[in-house]
Amino acid sequence: MKVLITGAASNIGFSTAISLAKLDNYVYLTVHHEYEIEKVLEKVKELKLENNIECFKLDITLESDRKKIRDLDIDCLVNNAAIGIGGSMVEIPIDLMKENFEVNVFSTLRLTQIYLAHLIAEGKSGKVVFMSSIAGIIPISFLGSYCATKASLIMIATNLRKEVRLLNKDIKVKLIEPGIYNTGFNDIMIENKLERKNTYFNDLESITLKQKKLFELIGHDNLESITRKIVEAVLDDSNKLLYRAPLSQVIMTKLYMLLFK
Ligand SMILES: NC(=O)c1ccc[n+]([C@@H]2O[C@H](COP(=O)([O-])OP(=O)(O)OC[C@H]3O[C@@H](n4cnc5c(N)ncnc54)[C@H](OP(=O)(O)O)[C@@H]3O)[C@@H](O)[C@H]2O)c1
Repeated sequence: MKVLITGAASNIGFSTAISLAKLDNYVYLTVHHEYEIEKVLEKVKELKLENNIECFKLDITLESDRKKIRDLDIDCLVNNAAIGIGGSMVEIPIDLMKENFEVNVFSTLRLTQIYLAHLIAEGKSGKVVFMSSIAGIIPISFLGSYCATKASLIMIATNLRKEVRLLNKDIKVKLIEPGIYNTGFNDIMIENKLERKNTYFNDLESITLKQKKLFELIGHDNLESITRKIVEAVLDDSNKLLYRAPLSQVIMTKLYMLLFK
């Protein structure tokens, strides 16, 4: 298969790209910034995967970059790129929340629509994978903006899946809901609210510290379980929508839904 992954310079996106390439798929490993390419290609060479991986810059918020995928032959688009902006719903600046939605939701959907247009025009089959999160199901205080973007992706993926069926096209939609993994992504999101000086919450620093410790405690260091799920979703031609990992947090999420939803 030919698979394009966004935001794949490191962590979950990178490990997914490597796993897919090792299974002899061809991966367009795309990165947010130009400067990330050299380091990525070094790692790819070390792993002797240069024949299976092509790396280029794709900032999903830029139309000029999104256009790059128009002429590519892609069997599966993995929408992995995201940012997390922390802060309470009481006071988070709306412009920051817009930025969070611009990356995680609107740019992701814009890129997906370019891919879908290509599939529809060429009468080709294809697959779209969306990276949501358990944060799209379970509300997490002070991470409401990120939670809202991931909840939106659940609805977008679910609606898209229904709608492409009406087109009678072989286009599969997959939704990944990872639990907490210690990639550094969550730390940045938990901490970046402290950069804003004015807050109604006098103890914001200690709240932040506690939340960081809790995430570290629950979070998984090893990305194998989530990488395996994403690879499964990419390769799975069934109509299955939802893929979750790790198991401990899947159980926790199910308990939450049973008790509170
Ligand atoms: N880690 C977790 O606990 C967890 C849990 C649930 C879901 N997820 C989701 O899993 C995905 C990967 O997260 P991760 O933990 O592996 O962290 P990560 O490495 O920080 O992944 C996010 C990637 O998105 C890139 N990115 C940000 N803005 C972009 C843009 N405009 N265009 C292209 N790429 C952009 C980042 O690039 P730069 O760093 O260069 O800006 C980064 O490479 C994300 O969708 C995240 O929401 C993570």
